[in-house]
Order: sequence, then C-alpha cells, then structure tokens
Amino acid sequence: MSTQVYLNGSFVAVEEAKISVTDRGFLFGDGVYEVIPVYGGYLFKLQHHLQRLRNSLQEIHMDNPHTYDEWKQILTRLTAQLGHSDQAVYLQVTRGCTDVRDHAWPADIEPTIYARTKLLTPPSSQQKRQGIHAVTLDDPRWQHCNIKAITLLANVLARHEAADAGAQEAIFIRDGLATEGAISNLFIVKDKLLITPPQSDSLLPGITREIVLELAKLNGIPYAEASISTADLRTADEIWMSSSTREVLPVLQLNGEPVGSGVAGEVWEKMNALYEACKQKLRKGEAVS
Ligand SMILES: Cc1ncc(COP(=O)(O)O)c(C=O)c1O
Repeated sequence: MSTQVYLNGSFVAVEEAKISVTDRGFLFGDGVYEVIPVYGGYLFKLQHHLQRLRNSLQEIHMDNPHTYDEWKQILTRLTAQLGHSDQAVYLQVTRGCTDVRDHAWPADIEPTIYARTKLLTPPSSQQKRQGIHAVTLDDPRWQHCNIKAITLLANVLARHEAADAGAQEAIFIRDGLATEGAISNLFIVKDKLLITPPQSDSLLPGITREIVLELAKLNGIPYAEASISTADLRTADEIWMSSSTREVLPVLQLNGEPVGSGVAGEVWEKMNALYEACKQKLRKGEAVS
C-alpha cells in the first residue's frame, strides 16, 4: 500500500492527491517549501525548519497556515506511516488558486498545503568520503535567495550544466564571491579554519549549515562566517557542500582540478563523525539540541 500524502487538511493516497490547474504554484512558482530529514522516525531540527518556513512565508507576504503544534501533528502523523525509518519530508505551501491568472493576488485566497514523506537512505560515511565534483557558475538568480522558494529554474539549469560537465554540484559565483551550491551550502577549510559565507540574500540559510557551525563551536573547530573569493575557493585545503538529505559532502574536484590533496580532508572527517553521532543520538530517541 502506498503511503498517504497530506493535502489541504486531509491524508490521501498520492494517486488521489490532486491540485487545480489554477494553483499559483503551478502557474507562477508562487510558493515556498521545506525538506526535513527524519532519522529513526524522529523529525530532525523540526523547529529550525519550521522557523525557516515561517520566514519564507513572511518574505512572500503569506500567513503561516499552521501553528508549530499543528505542523508537528501533521508531520508526525505523516511520518508515522513509515515507522522508525529514515525519511525525507517534502512540504510545500503555495499561495493557492485564483480563477483569473493575474500576477497580483486577491486578499481572500486560501493556500495550498502539501506534504509527502519518502524513505531516505542517507549516504554512508564511505559513500560520502568518495566525495563529489563541482563546477563554478555565474549566479543568474535574484536578490532573495534566502527565501526557500519553489521557483527553482536557475538551480535546475545549474545542476543540469554541472551534470553536463561530469559534476554533481554547481557553486554559484556572485560579484566575485562563491556563495552556495545549486542545492547546498558551501564551506571551505583553509589553514585549519572552517569558513562559510555569512547569511545574506545571496544564499539560503541552510539548516545543515547551521548544524555544522554549531558542531564546530561545541567541539573546538575554529570557524568563521566570511566571504569566499574565487581565489580562496581555488586554493582551499578542503571544500564541502551541505544539505539536509546529502548531509556534508567533500568536494574532491573543482572545475576538473583536485581540491587540496584530492581526498576527503581531516577536518571533514571530524565533522562527519560529529554529524553521524548527532543522527545516531536522534535515532535512539535522545534529544538533539
Ligand atoms: C540553494 C540551496 N542552498 C542550500 C541548501 C541547504 O539547505 P538545508 O541544509 O536546509 O537542506 C539547499 C537545500 O535544498 C538549497 O537548495
């Protein structure tokens, strides 16, 4: 039996879940989303994800359709279907349906709320250690990359261009600075210092990014939130990309050239062990701050 999805107040089979062709998410990409990992049946960093959802909604002038407790109830019921497994929840809120296709929206519009969970097989440490290849690309996106908007065409094309070049991720360059990936945040290690670009409207405030910074702080790994120039990127000892479902992956090749010694670096090894420990704790039902 297929799992049920949540759509506008009901749990229904995915085949039965239908949205209207007048939905503004479909017509304009007018909506926001979240991806929340689940380990051993426990939602990871739910508060952080729901806070970011609130921020994204606020930025696009939408009310949050649910309180924290309501969201938690919906997502707990959704994920309970797959028991104590690892999962990834996709959650999307669009502005809703309007009969007339007009960029401006009416005041009385009702949002479309959708959530689905799927089994997740997180990469093993060994798989992560294999690393990824990345290419740099000029960032063609808008000035509101801090919003987790469903309008992802630039990211889709960047991933496609990266794949064409035999890479798994594109690193965006804006005004001479490396900001983030098409689907992840960026870290470098230079002379043992972990560096990630500061939060701004040029990048998504990634939850994994936040966790990595917190783990660095708690475990005495020197870190800084500072700009990363293309020269910094080229001469980095280590480059990592972070995201909720792929966690923290070392980049072993940048634009066809090896990064550092060409293997996963020692700071990455340390961070990966800390991240894995955090997931293990959650899987046992222990509180993860
Ligand atoms: C553009 C972009 N930056 C960063 C991230 C990482 O965010 P998170 O760690 O919350 O998954 C993502 C994740 O999808 C993303 O799409």
